[in-house]
Amino acid sequence: MRYICLLSVVGLALATPSLRSASEPAKILESLNTLRQNSFLDWIVSVLGPDYPDTSASPAKRECPACGCGNINTRHRIVGGQETEVHEYPWMAMLMWFGSFYCGATLVNDQYALTAAHCVNGFYHRLITVRLLEHNRQDSNVKIVDRRVTRVLVHPNYSTVNFDSDIALIRFNEPVRLGIDMHPVCLPTPTETFAGQTAVVTGWGALSEGGPISDTLQEVEVPVLSQQECRETSYGSEKITDNMICAGYVEQGGKDSCQGDSGGPMHVIDEKQSYQLAGIVSWGEGCAKPGSPGVYTRVSNFNEWIAANTRDSCACSQAEEVAPAEAASTTTEQPEMATAQTSEGPEVVEAELLA
Ligand SMILES: *[C@@H]1O[C@H](CO)[C@@H](O)[C@H](O)[C@H]1NC(C)=O
Repeated sequence: MRYICLLSVVGLALATPSLRSASEPAKILESLNTLRQNSFLDWIVSVLGPDYPDTSASPAKRECPACGCGNINTRHRIVGGQETEVHEYPWMAMLMWFGSFYCGATLVNDQYALTAAHCVNGFYHRLITVRLLEHNRQDSNVKIVDRRVTRVLVHPNYSTVNFDSDIALIRFNEPVRLGIDMHPVCLPTPTETFAGQTAVVTGWGALSEGGPISDTLQEVEVPVLSQQECRETSYGSEKITDNMICAGYVEQGGKDSCQGDSGGPMHVIDEKQSYQLAGIVSWGEGCAKPGSPGVYTRVSNFNEWIAANTRDSCACSQAEEVAPAEAASTTTEQPEMATAQTSEGPEVVEAELLA
C-alpha cells in the first residue's frame, strides 16, 4: 500500500477500542468507552467549532455556470519524473491529517475530490483538510485553497483484503471557485481500457523507494498495461481485479508512483487534449521495480457511482463549445440560494475562457 504504514499508525491512535475483555463487567467498560468518545468529540468541537451541516441529501438548487474540465496550464512540456510547473494540474489536491500532508486527491467538480479509499477509510473526516493550488509544500503560496470535509464516502465494495474498489469521494464544507488555476479533471471515457496509452501520474510522493516525500509536485510518464499484461507480472491473476488498472515499465522499471502518491491521479490525454482521470494511485510492490508495475483504481468503472453521489455539485463538461445563448442565460439568472452559509455562492470565474 502506498503510504499505508503511516496511515495505519495514525489511524490506530483514534480508533475506538473494541471490547474484548470478558472478565470485566461489560457495562462499566461500555459506559467508560462512551464517556471517552463523548469527551473526545467535545474536544474536537472545541477545537474545530460546530460540525458543518451536510446538505448533500437535500441540496440547495444551484445555478452552474458553464466550465470545461481537464485543461492543463503549461507552456513547455517535458515529462519524465520531474517537477511540474506551478498549477500545471489545476485539479491536483492534497489531503492533510492534523495539518500534515499524507495523500493525494483530485478535484472532480466544484465540491468533491476523489481519492483512494485507503486514504480516508477509518479516518475521522473532520480532521482531514483538502488543500488545492499547492505546489511547494515547504513554501505554500498565497493562493492555496483549503477546505474542510463534511462527508467521506468510501465505495461500498472497497476491500481492505485485496484493495478492490479503492475509491472514495470527499465532500467539501463549501464549493471552490473554479477558474483557470483551479478546475476539475475530466472523468474517463467509460468504454476505454487505455491499454498502450501513455499516462501521467502526479504527486508529492517519495522520489525513490523508502526515500523522503517530495516538497514540490512531481510528474512521471508511464505506459498503461492491458489487464492480461498486468496479470502476467509478478502479481499474478488473482491480485488484479477488473477494478484495477496497471501502469509502469514492467521490463526495466525505473519510473513509478511511490509512497505518498496514494489517492492522486493517473491521467490519460484524450484526442481533444483534455486530461481524463484513468486511475487513482492505489498500491504496488515497492516502487519502480521491474516486474511490479503501479496498480491504480480503474475510475471508468465508477463514473456512475461518482455521478450518483455528487448531484449537489457543479460539474464541468469536456472540451465542448458552449453556445453563446446558453452561456448568456446562465449568467443573467440569479442563483437560488437556500442555505445561509452559502450566501455568496460558488463563483465561477473565467468560465468562458475554459469552455
Ligand atoms: C458492488 O459489487 C457488486 C458485485 O460485483 C455489484 O453488483 C454492485 O453493483 C457493486 N456496488 C456498487 C455500488 O457499485
